[in-house]
Amino acid sequence: MNELDQFVKHKLKIKHYFRYTDDFIILHQNENYLKELLPEIAEFLREKLKLNLHPNKVILKKLQQGVDFLGYVVLPYHRVLRTKTKKRIFKKVDAKNLQSYLGVLKHCRGYKIQKSILNKMNKAEELEKLKKEMEEDKELPLFGEANLVFGEGDVGAEVMFIGEAPGFHEDKFMRPFVGQAGKLLDKLLEKINLPRESVYITNIVKRRPPENRDPLPEEIEAYKPYLKKQIQIINPKIIATLGRFAMNYFLSDFKISQSHGRGVILREKIIYPLYHPAAALRATAILKELEKDFKKLPSLLKNYDNVKIKK
Ligand code: URA
Repeated sequence: MNELDQFVKHKLKIKHYFRYTDDFIILHQNENYLKELLPEIAEFLREKLKLNLHPNKVILKKLQQGVDFLGYVVLPYHRVLRTKTKKRIFKKVDAKNLQSYLGVLKHCRGYKIQKSILNKMNKAEELEKLKKEMEEDKELPLFGEANLVFGEGDVGAEVMFIGEAPGFHEDKFMRPFVGQAGKLLDKLLEKINLPRESVYITNIVKRRPPENRDPLPEEIEAYKPYLKKQIQIINPKIIATLGRFAMNYFLSDFKISQSHGRGVILREKIIYPLYHPAAALRATAILKELEKDFKKLPSLLKNYDNVKIKK
């Protein structure tokens, strides 16, 4: 690309020109002048370098609107991260790449995002500690009989799904909702544009009861302190309960047939009872209800801040 630099500087005599690999910016106060430059540059690239200017990637904008460059939006007096970059960093940050992402943030106004990233990292660390504690707690029922299925997903999720207890596949892979019910859950999430990776999924009882029997009250009680801590760390806006056991954990005398699809405010969160996907696999009428209730989830989330929640 050095030829392009020479061409821009010496032939076109452009003073304010920046390039990094194949991204380049030309600054000028005259919009028409910039428009007229385009065909000349395109021709040079085509003839001399066998390259084409991508029509969708040529952007003409005012400096005050900010210029996208190398993941930043460069404004006249400061830089911010591009929304896309912000989202990518937030999704991908882990202990290995944290320092390099913090480095990226040093070059822009990124205090808020830095705070959120560190918050997310803290959450991940705290969850890891909690998991370890559970793995070592020999007093927990089903210890030694089944694998621990701690939970998974985005630790900064706004929606947390809580099921009853792991089944055969969950025990085998040590991941929640990965059997048939899990596949349905994934589909329902996709349909509302809330990918599985963007929510957090776990169960009340975190080891598989033998023969998939219902969890016993004493099992629910024993796993309670861990679930409580897990919720505290993730701190979601909405807790979507899957099935009556999970619903009754929060709302003890509610009936699923009457309460599904209706958010209930409890301790600054919305508890959103849903039918269990396994039940939906057995009955079409329930599947229809579950689909309807899932569809309401995005607006419930959107309206969360407008709901009067006592703090
Ligand atoms: N059913 C549940 O309640 N939890 C799982 O993880 C899988 C099936």
